[in-house]
Amino acid sequence: MSRERAKLVVGNWKMHGRIGENATLLIEVAAGASALQKGVSVGVCVPCPYLAQSQALLSGSVVRWGIQDVSAHTGGAFTGEVAAEMAADFGVTYAIVGHSERRAYHRESPELVASKAQRAIEAGLTPIVCVGETLEEREAGTTERIIGTQLEAVLQALTEEQAAGIVVAYEPVWAIGTGKTARPGQAQDVHAFLRHKLLEKGATVANVPLLYGGSVKPENAEELFGQKDIDGGLIGGASLKSKDFLAICRAAQTVTH
Ligand code: 13P
Repeated sequence: MSRERAKLVVGNWKMHGRIGENATLLIEVAAGASALQKGVSVGVCVPCPYLAQSQALLSGSVVRWGIQDVSAHTGGAFTGEVAAEMAADFGVTYAIVGHSERRAYHRESPELVASKAQRAIEAGLTPIVCVGETLEEREAGTTERIIGTQLEAVLQALTEEQAAGIVVAYEPVWAIGTGKTARPGQAQDVHAFLRHKLLEKGATVANVPLLYGGSVKPENAEELFGQKDIDGGLIGGASLKSKDFLAICRAAQTVTH
């Protein structure tokens, strides 16, 4: 079964970008991605103010665009929040939910992340559900318990059909923006655990794309993406340079599962 899964590479720009430099980056990524083989999909998750720009510059290209978070509410008196339906107005495909930066700095609980994933699905978006452990949690031997709880909360809130339409990203917190990458075998072990959890929800859920994120670079992408249960990557820093991001996308097409 795993031999058939396509690859997916998604950039997470985080709070980076300005309208001028974004245009160059988006146009270069769209041009480079058009040369990729079928079987590799590419997306970029941009800050909200640049959704319209992404829509304008990426429509008609093979690159899809996304938002980095959505509200758990559909509308109302929630100053500063953005509803999934609003993102849908800009042709958005992906909605990252539960990124570790939001779990840490905004105290997002597994239940809140689950509500966000539900809102994204209801609006027709594909949630990219991030899970990951801190260094302390890994050293305490609680990695599986932590990420298991994070994933379970989302799976419980969804029907099997809905769950089959999500993307899951494993992002060890200690590997994000640190230059420290999980060893390919270490990442594979966690992905195999996540795959098993997904299978428990249903046979169709077991095949959802499982991305790895955390200091993915052109130099390490191929080995990571070559692991049996790693279906691509969620790319932070390296997604801000078209050359690096496209090299990572090309690494995804050189490995076939
Ligand atoms: P880096 O690739 O910069 O480590 O970030 C990973 C990440 O958090 C993507 O969501």
